[in-house]
Amino acid sequence: MANSKAPWAEPYKIKVVEPLKVTDREYRLNAIKEAGYNTFLLKSEDVYIDLLTDSGTNAMSDYQWAGMMLGDESYAGSRNFYYLESNVRKYYGYKHLVPTHQGRGAEHLLSRALIKDGDYVPGNMYFTTTRLHQELAGGTFVDVIIDEAHDPQNLHPFKGNVDLAKFEGLINRVGGGKIPYITIGAPVNMAGGQPVSMDNIRRVKELANKHDIMIVFDATRGMENAYFIQQREEGYANKSVAEILLEFASHTDAATMSGKKDLLVNIGGFVAVNDWDTFEELRNMVVIYEGLHTYGGLAGRDMEAMARGMEEAVQDAHISTRVKQVEYFGQLLLDAGVPIVEPIGGHAVFVDARKFYDHIPQDQFPAQALAADFYIESGVRCMERGIVSAGRNKETGEHYFPKLELVRITFPRRVYMQSHLDVAAYHVIELFKKRHEAKGLEMVYEPTYLRFFQARFERIGK
Ligand code: F0G
Repeated sequence: MANSKAPWAEPYKIKVVEPLKVTDREYRLNAIKEAGYNTFLLKSEDVYIDLLTDSGTNAMSDYQWAGMMLGDESYAGSRNFYYLESNVRKYYGYKHLVPTHQGRGAEHLLSRALIKDGDYVPGNMYFTTTRLHQELAGGTFVDVIIDEAHDPQNLHPFKGNVDLAKFEGLINRVGGGKIPYITIGAPVNMAGGQPVSMDNIRRVKELANKHDIMIVFDATRGMENAYFIQQREEGYANKSVAEILLEFASHTDAATMSGKKDLLVNIGGFVAVNDWDTFEELRNMVVIYEGLHTYGGLAGRDMEAMARGMEEAVQDAHISTRVKQVEYFGQLLLDAGVPIVEPIGGHAVFVDARKFYDHIPQDQFPAQALAADFYIESGVRCMERGIVSAGRNKETGEHYFPKLELVRITFPRRVYMQSHLDVAAYHVIELFKKRHEAKGLEMVYEPTYLRFFQARFERIGK
């Protein structure tokens, strides 16, 4: 970094464009009402700037598109599989690869392979699909993240870290034999995209090894985590993101991956492991649920795009711009006094809906209401990450009441320009000025699993 004050720009230029549709407020009021005030149920053609997720929404490069033409669509033994396998070994270091259609396919296989009824699975905060697959396999998820992660304003540089005392406490309580593995999400999506330090993963490994507990890395955005280590952890400033990623993964035994994030593709994922017996089990199971072990639910061309995306995504120039875009947007909100989770995360800015709408109680879904209001105000789409996403306790049937009641404004990779971010920020700030007029929501339809995707709401008092 020669001069940190020098301006930066995206390290790519545009070759193909996709027009955006602008709508008026009345149109949007109608659209969100029809969508049951759930941004997941909006038609994408009714959205102006889509900041719902960074999952599968990335722009592929000419190099990736060229690779799509080299798809080997043989049923078995596609050359694109072998290329992907060699890149997973090169960039992540795991010995064995099983491709899956996306991240939750990998979580499904791994949970079924390793969890027995009555087991406990610790993790540094839950992720929706990860926890559900652990529960469906008979496990109980236990959150062992540091307390700072639950406080939106705490400036800890590695808020994704595991609290070793919490992890050890669980081991002492239930016994290592009841804990097949610990999941390390890095960065932690639900905490606001907060990273895990190298020091912390080393300590987790020491403790886990002592009790024969595997470490599973949710590597979905692991390159962003590596970038944060480079920026924030002593001893890493002169290492590349690629080197740091490889070192981080070396402290773990397996990974589940949603290629739809870091790897710059629209679909794809994998599970990778070092242990041969676990690999055999996964390879056997993938043919039941996903497809043959050399394609796992993907076309050959999808595997090629993912292998090539991996090469591009791990470049420092790519990943630093990606995170800087997010920081740029977050800073605009901070400057205007909008309450957001700090430090700003790697993939998204999380607005603290509890503070933003401090007059709406949590059981009237303030974050859900804020996401809907933001769409009405601007045509920009984002998502709830609060009580609706947290779901219900499987034993008591009660809502979980998470401390974090957030709206996630998420940035697809290589898709939007700085000017789109200016527009989106402007509207968040306008909404903030009239926040006292806002009203809560009532849930009128609730699906059994992952309710945030399909739940429907009505406005209270209108
Ligand atoms: N792990 C993390 C940390 C994720 O963020 C996701 C997906 C998954 C696993 C599951 O992967 O979607 O490919 O099945 N997150 C998306 C999001 C949905 O918007 O954050 P998937």
